Amino acid sequence: MGEVITRVVAIDPAVPDCTAIVEAASIIQAGALVAFPTETVYGLGADGLNPIALGRIYVVKGRPPDNPLILHIASPDQLPLMAAHIPTIAHRLVQAFWPGPLTLILPKTSSVPDLATAGLTTVAVRMPAHPVALALINAAKTPLAAPSANRSGLPSPTTAQHVFDDLRGRIPLILDAGPTRVGLESTVLDVTCIPPVILRPGGITREAIEAVVGHVQEAASVAQRRRSPGTRYRHYSPRARVVLVEDAQAETLQAAIAKALQHGKRVGCLLHRLEPNHLPPSIQVTRIGGSVADYAQGLFSALRALDGLELDVIVVEGVQEQGLGVAVMDRLRRAASPPRPSSGFTE
Ligand code: TXA
Ligand code: MG
Repeated sequence: MGEVITRVVAIDPAVPDCTAIVEAASIIQAGALVAFPTETVYGLGADGLNPIALGRIYVVKGRPPDNPLILHIASPDQLPLMAAHIPTIAHRLVQAFWPGPLTLILPKTSSVPDLATAGLTTVAVRMPAHPVALALINAAKTPLAAPSANRSGLPSPTTAQHVFDDLRGRIPLILDAGPTRVGLESTVLDVTCIPPVILRPGGITREAIEAVVGHVQEAASVAQRRRSPGTRYRHYSPRARVVLVEDAQAETLQAAIAKALQHGKRVGCLLHRLEPNHLPPSIQVTRIGGSVADYAQGLFSALRALDGLELDVIVVEGVQEQGLGVAVMDRLRRAASPPRPSSGFTE
């Protein structure tokens, strides 16, 4: 892969500048890649119908070839191009949650290249709620395949700087519309089965989905997880070891910190609600207060920032597993899981 010069172009998130969008669209149409903002995280966009462009995504990210991509569209009208069959339940979900952080798994049409789906017979589709993303899809006149714009294995990027840190020299253009609103990725919901199955918890909660379509299942079994290949891999992991305080108790947190210090480790700590009494002065403390949505929004950015401090261990406060807390805990557990020998890769 030859080095390219990566330009970062600022763009108004509410009223995207036409010139920047036209330039980005022509890069996409030429089969190259552009990083762009969505409401969840930054995406690494390519023409979703061009196999050569799709191949570049895997190379640039260092992504395992068995991990399929999400196709991004600018209107539900574009769904029939990609989905061979759209169950009633999917129509209702589209009405309720698009544009927004919900990805639907549907049976694919022959227009969708195998490289977009990693050979599966289903395709992942979503309509993002970001004016820049929508303008780019419209100008490129094609669905955009876009994984999160991080190097495989690192936390997803929520700012243009994160994308630049990971992909500098590998892509020609990053559209910078500031930090993303949701901060973690879309919910991936398989609607090819009844009841639908949440393959990846994300920005739309299970409770919200169930309010629209009734009972949905969580992908608990290995067999189900296999249907969303990305969830098999270790993800979102900083280089430092992440220790997750599952019970979100101050005593547990303090014990984890003390243990790491006893072993001579350099320790950082990410707090949400806890206010532990005696934290040793030597440790780096970051706090994201507020609601669980605020924690979700700042999480990846905080992990990246802490990881920039050359720490050995980052002790992270957990949250209750309800609402958006399910997605937060999913990402934190994966960040905290030890690398497996043969699959240190991720989305
Ligand atoms: O919020 C998001 O979803 C972001 C933004 C850029 O839209 N994108 C994103 O893409 O997170 P990525 O590639 O990092 O994650 C896509 C996930 C993976 O877990 C992948 O395995 C799953 O979607 N997926 C894609 N196609 C699938 C399919 N046909 N069946 C099951 N899972 C699929
Ligand atoms: Mg990803």
